[in-house]
Amino acid sequence: MAQKVAVFRKEHFNAAHRLFCADWSLEENQRVFGACSNPNYHGHNYELVVQVNGYPDAKTGFVINTKDLSKMVQEEIISRFDHKNLNLDTDAFLNLNPTAENIAIVIYNLLRPRISDTLDLKIRLYETERNFVDYPA
Ligand code: NI
Repeated sequence: MAQKVAVFRKEHFNAAHRLFCADWSLEENQRVFGACSNPNYHGHNYELVVQVNGYPDAKTGFVINTKDLSKMVQEEIISRFDHKNLNLDTDAFLNLNPTAENIAIVIYNLLRPRISDTLDLKIRLYETERNFVDYPA
């Protein structure tokens, strides 16, 4: 009986964002979102952990080839978000607040089609060392 294994790949990107609700006043936005609502944006050093769960292949011993996984993350995520203003430079967040929660969901949706249906995918995203999210929960 094969045993399920979790494989992790860590990646990194820098990006700027601003959290705000367009129909709220500046004061209301700053009350809810704090420094993350600075009108002229600010940056975060995002740490991304992509987790793939599955059964090791009988021949290769791999759940997934991490070289392929890394390439996939570079193509779909890093090239799209690294050194970008998430609000202004990306389609995904034109009308979606770029919170860690929403960024994790967007990343999941970009990677999911590229990973075999036989494998489970989970995204962990660190916005800061102390604030991070998991999707799916
Ligand atoms: Ni922020």
